[in-house]
Amino acid sequence: MEAPRIIQLPKFLDDRGNLSFIEENNHIPFKIERTYWIYDVPGGERRGGHAYLNLQEFIVAISGSFDVVLHDGVKEMRYSLNRSYYGLYVPKMMWREIENFSTNSLALILTNGKYDVNEYIRVFDQFVSCKHGR
Ligand code: TYD
Repeated sequence: MEAPRIIQLPKFLDDRGNLSFIEENNHIPFKIERTYWIYDVPGGERRGGHAYLNLQEFIVAISGSFDVVLHDGVKEMRYSLNRSYYGLYVPKMMWREIENFSTNSLALILTNGKYDVNEYIRVFDQFVSCKHGR
């Protein structure tokens, strides 16, 4: 199974400003079927708190900063995202939460499937049991 990892994106620096981009199956290892974004998060709030059975994600801090906390069923990993020229690849079956949103932060999330409630595992203990084949 693919591992979570930070992926650097192309970055064109210019006197007129900077530009970055993402191509499916090139910079990220999946085809993009859906994009959503999380914004105007009140201080101290957390998002996520679930895993996906099949969906993969790529998360970019387009503006501001936040932490993505992943759990693979054994250990927890924390990634601080605060630049728009890299992002975090999250494979399927990872518990993930997003927290520590800065004021005006904008989290862009690309994923390889349509929204489907049946894709979600929302109970951590169920996720861990599933990971360990119980
Ligand atoms: P939710 O899963 O609670 O967000 P988060 O995982 O960030 O805490 O989603 C909030 C609401 O938005 C929920 O009613 C489902 C809906 N939603 C969609 O309709 N389409 C989507 O692509 C996403 C991500 C959520």
